[in-house]
Amino acid sequence: MKNILVTGGAGFIGSNFINYILDKRDDYNIVNLDKLTYAGNLENLIPSQKKQNYHFVKGDIVNSEFVDLIFRKYDIKYVINFAAESHVDRSILGSEVFFRTNVIGTNVLLEAARRYEVEKFLQVSTDEVYGSLGENGLFTEDTPLHPNSPYSASKASADLVALAFHHTYDVPVVITRCSNNYGQYQFPEKLIPLMIINSLNEKKLPVYGDGMNVRDWIYVLDHNKAIEIVFEKGRISEVYNVGASNEIPNIEIVKLILKHLGKSEELIEYVKDRLGHDRRYAINSSKIKKELGWSPCYKFEEAIIQTIDWYKKNKNWWESIISGKYQDYYKTQYGTK
Ligand code: NAD
Ligand code: DAU
Repeated sequence: MKNILVTGGAGFIGSNFINYILDKRDDYNIVNLDKLTYAGNLENLIPSQKKQNYHFVKGDIVNSEFVDLIFRKYDIKYVINFAAESHVDRSILGSEVFFRTNVIGTNVLLEAARRYEVEKFLQVSTDEVYGSLGENGLFTEDTPLHPNSPYSASKASADLVALAFHHTYDVPVVITRCSNNYGQYQFPEKLIPLMIINSLNEKKLPVYGDGMNVRDWIYVLDHNKAIEIVFEKGRISEVYNVGASNEIPNIEIVKLILKHLGKSEELIEYVKDRLGHDRRYAINSSKIKKELGWSPCYKFEEAIIQTIDWYKKNKNWWESIISGKYQDYYKTQYGTK
């Protein structure tokens, strides 16, 4: 049995990871440590909740005494660190909590990993640490770090802290840097769920700038399969890029969603651009493919339709979210409810 601390497992990617992995492995004992911020939702974990090898603990990764207690109590030997403040726009509205959770929190986990001599520490990072691309080229693992937002600066810092803990103390760290995810349970503030939900509600779809910023989309289960394989086979101190080669301008995604839902393009509203908006991300994943045998399984054209249909069928899930505090965030970010 592997005792694995999964942090941030009530969020979008972490909950999909736990549900996926517990469905196929009974030799993993998962302890999910999550603060349940606005982005954490235990409803995402209904498929895992009754499993004997799943344990939920509410807590903050910044709290070192509490983290220590969890390592001791559950005899933690592995860590997969998903926990983070993850939304670029919120980091532009206020950056402090991003550095607190993403940098200090990662440092606290690494200190515990060192004390308890864990066998692997997987840091879940992002392609945003590389900054922005021009019209050509792809991010490789050797692309220099050039984060442009408070969010990406905090994630790049966390990567550096993790690598330093390997270099200095031999903590067995490995890092994944993935591109933009989409799929079920993604919090409605992110582009794809936001546009689906606003379309369903016949609300305006706020497109930043000229809508031609490009993101490289990957279905969440493909990301989670990459995490599984890096966790099992990834070489210590290495970084692995993860992406599915689906570069798409934002406006095309928005139009695709409207078309599938049979809604008018008149709902599109071009709004003030995001400050410091990165123009283009695109990932070269050849290292993880060649070295570890990972490749994406889901076709964008099919998985995006499945995702839109999931939000259509699961109104209860998002209606309770958008009726609460989310409304205040929406008003601050978009100037309207
Ligand atoms: P999310 O915002 O949906 O979930 C984050 C989770 O972390 C939430 O459950 C939240 O409650 C928890 N959390 C936040 N602060 C915490 C703290 N101090 N202590 C304990 N738990 C805390 O994020 P996500 O989209 O699922 O992203 C997960 C990870 O993957 C993040 O590290 C993110 O940087 C990375 N990532 C995300 C994407 C993407 O497209 N969403 C792409 C690449 C990498
Ligand atoms: O690349 C990986 C990153 O992808 C992750 O590290 C982040 O955690 C994740 O949030 C995501 O960051 P982005 O900033 O790329 O995602 P977001 O969904 O916020 O925005 C995607 C694109 O859509 C971006 O170009 C901004 C644009 N956008 C977004 C929103 C919320 C709009 O045009 N309008 C909007 O209202």
